[in-house]
Amino acid sequence: MDFSQTPQEKLFLEMIRAFAEKEVKPLAAEIDEQERFPIETVEKMGKIGIMGIPIPKEYGGAGGTNQIYSMAVEELSRVCATTGVVVSAHTSLCCAPILEFGTEEQKQKYLPKLATGEWIGAFGLTEPNAGTDASSQQTFAVEEGDHWVLNGNKIFITNAEYAHVYIIFAMTDKSQGNKGISAFIVEKDMPGFSVGKKELKMGIRGSATCELIMENCIVPKENLLGKLGQGFKVAMKTLDGGRVGIASQALGIARGAMDETVKYTKERKQFGRSISKFQNTQFQLADLQTRIDCASLLVRKASWLKDMKMPYSVAAAEAKLFCAETAMEVTTKAVQFHGGYGYTREYPVERMMRDAKITEIYEGTSEVQRMVIAANLLK
Ligand code: CAA
Repeated sequence: MDFSQTPQEKLFLEMIRAFAEKEVKPLAAEIDEQERFPIETVEKMGKIGIMGIPIPKEYGGAGGTNQIYSMAVEELSRVCATTGVVVSAHTSLCCAPILEFGTEEQKQKYLPKLATGEWIGAFGLTEPNAGTDASSQQTFAVEEGDHWVLNGNKIFITNAEYAHVYIIFAMTDKSQGNKGISAFIVEKDMPGFSVGKKELKMGIRGSATCELIMENCIVPKENLLGKLGQGFKVAMKTLDGGRVGIASQALGIARGAMDETVKYTKERKQFGRSISKFQNTQFQLADLQTRIDCASLLVRKASWLKDMKMPYSVAAAEAKLFCAETAMEVTTKAVQFHGGYGYTREYPVERMMRDAKITEIYEGTSEVQRMVIAANLLK
């Protein structure tokens, strides 16, 4: 495996790091406090290529690798996990399936606007009764003349309120089980489509997580994504990529919490010396840093396999599982190191600990990742 970067890639990452420090970090506490979608940041990210990193240049993207995209999500999440997931859900869950399964017309129509951030993307799979059991879709689509009519509700949809394009899954033939599910590209202005209740969340509070409502929603026939009845595979393959994105987000959160903790333990004095001088602090920091480096290798491996077009479902599941649990462990310990201050909103580790929790839940819970890894072992 080769994780080295070209000089151009190095420059691009340096630019993203600088952007994260200058434009993203100063807003992180505010968008969390106000539960506000960082639309101004998305516009800026669109202008500098962050909204379409792995999209080929011919479709208006930056033409980067999945490795660089993963590193970018990590850098953004290091300072603001909301911004990290806005980019990850948009790129991995909306742009990527259009790129992989779309017709040439669909790619030409949607990718240039998505890749430049003019349009924001989202993904609608989860329903009130179809969470982990994603094949139990109750949304259904019926063919009528030159269009499809969709009816049903989706919940917990990242970017929902601000998105223009949604990848929506619906049953087209219930008798076929998961082979009766199809995927559609739905635009926010299509008749019968609306955004419902916004969730008030523990963490990633700026990411606009809402319900989607389809009441006799009219979707043109040409907006079927992939083949009829192949929707479950489209969803699963898309989520493989999405899980690398969330693993990168979790890794970024862990690194951000570590940055804060190293700084704090050097500054904070108790019993006449900085708490970094205590061996208990040093040993714990060493263990956490080792864990972060292991997490990083799993994400780098999954991204590399994806770039090499080799199977990477299990690597993505391992990366997401380990990075999410690492983010929880590091942020929880970061709060503990900060003591009473860590429990206040004066220090960012409080937000980071709340943000970390969702990485163990969305785009497949940690239990789902274990199911994927075990199924491969025992097949
Ligand atoms: N790639 C390609 N095909 C796949 C696949 C993959 N990664 N995973 C499964 N499949 C195929 C299987 O090969 C099988 O095909 P055949 O029938 O032809 O053999 C078919 O799909 C069914 O597979 P399973 O029997 O394994 O399916 P299952 O119903 O038992 O489900 C599961 C398995 C892993 C639990 C799956 O349902 C799953 O991943 N659930 C979690 C869903 C999830 O991650 N939801 C998050 C939604 S997005 C989100 O979080 C919100 C957001 O906006 C961020």
